[in-house]
Amino acid sequence: MTDRTRNTSPPGGRELPAVEGGLPLIGHAIPFVRNPVDFLLRAHSRRGEAVAFSLPGRRVASFCGPQANAVVLGLDDSEADRRPVYEPLVTPLLGPGVVFNVPADVKAWHDSLLLPLIRRDALARHAQAMFDQVERYITPWQASGTFELMTVMRDLTARITAHCLIGPRFARTVGPALPTLLNQLESAAFATFMTGSRALLPQHRRADRARETLTRAIKQIAPHDCPEGSEHSHFEDLMCAVGPDGRSLDENTAASLMLGWLFAAASTPIHAAWTGILLLQYPQWLPVLRAEQEAAFTDHPPATLSALHKLERLDHCLLEAERLHPAVWLLARTAARDLCIHGYRVPRGHLVCVSPGASHRLPGVFREPGTFDPDRYLPDRREHRATPYALIGFSGGRHPCLGMSFAQQTMKIIWSVLLRAFDLELAEARARGAVTAMRHKPRRPCTVRYRRRNR
Ligand code: HEM
Repeated sequence: MTDRTRNTSPPGGRELPAVEGGLPLIGHAIPFVRNPVDFLLRAHSRRGEAVAFSLPGRRVASFCGPQANAVVLGLDDSEADRRPVYEPLVTPLLGPGVVFNVPADVKAWHDSLLLPLIRRDALARHAQAMFDQVERYITPWQASGTFELMTVMRDLTARITAHCLIGPRFARTVGPALPTLLNQLESAAFATFMTGSRALLPQHRRADRARETLTRAIKQIAPHDCPEGSEHSHFEDLMCAVGPDGRSLDENTAASLMLGWLFAAASTPIHAAWTGILLLQYPQWLPVLRAEQEAAFTDHPPATLSALHKLERLDHCLLEAERLHPAVWLLARTAARDLCIHGYRVPRGHLVCVSPGASHRLPGVFREPGTFDPDRYLPDRREHRATPYALIGFSGGRHPCLGMSFAQQTMKIIWSVLLRAFDLELAEARARGAVTAMRHKPRRPCTVRYRRRNR
């Protein structure tokens, strides 16, 4: 940890500037819920990189900007704890015994069980399967027509994730139903987030049924679902692993863990959809990307990591979508004790937040921050590297996203195949976002017109 990120104690420091306005009981809930990123940007432009405001039942300490991001994301769990924020949202969806419902050393062990499936050698193995999933999905499409962008991105990413992280048979049989089931889980998280309680709403009942369906399917299929070329399944590998307490996972916990991976990966379709929207809103980029693909791939793309690494302009477009429309727009923790964060006094119990959505649009960090400009990532500019923690769509510091490379590869392959196969345009040029809990999705329907290209 750097000296800057350690700048958290002893308690003391300046008082956080308060955001003006706010009503009794509900505080700033109305402008916050209406457009949280705009609300935060306005608050920070008036009051600076740290502000305080209130939401029903909680005070919020919000930090914005690379230096503040570095400090907050570098905080230890004993100072800024994610558990009180995420545990009530996630445990009802995944069941007990996983993610934030276990001690930190068990969570670290659980996380380590995902790594063999997403590290570099695994990504190299997954590449061809990812291509095949996308090709197979678009094969039955007509010569021309329309599709709803978010639906297609959810279908594709669900099939790819299910294939690579659980197994090919699971992807074939449960894959088509997976987006709906995951959406039912997410809707319940949103209901909990908005109401602050887990009162039994229809969303929660649907989520309970979705969880039962998915864990049952995982337990039935995954133990015998061997990836091509392997004699044992990922589920069997999980069952053989031994934890810090010397014990192995039981079947239910292994299934919940796999469900947790699918749920964590559910930001991928959002990022992939925003990438598509931006590319189609700025179609001057399409010839650039197609030329890059022709140089990287021959007629039938060899799905190798080295070919994918050549797609740098597509990488830049993905970075720009991450910057302008981060799928996870808010990263929140709870102050576990009175803290001094980045020179400001933060009382125990405050929600401590950084917002990728607001921070990425700060002038002074990125040139013309509201503009889609993938060239800002070219070697002679590299605006995202000029200041550490400028781009935090996959978080960073203590708890970076473990699946970032997997997600980036998935999105790259989806857009490689779609851009080579089709001419595409948005039916309606304007696309708006909708915030659901911690995720920021494009509002549906977002219709895309397609026409097959001669390849
Ligand atoms: C575009 C897609 C994705 C985005 C934008 C994204 C974003 C994030 C963010 C922001 C966090 C940190 C949350 C916080 O600290 O409050 C996170 C954590 C995590 N992500 Fe992702 N993610 C994506 C895809 C994936 C995929 C595909 C996987 C699995 C293969 C994955 C697995 C995880 C895990 C396991 C964590 C928890 C890490 C921890 O607790 O330390 N993510 N992700």
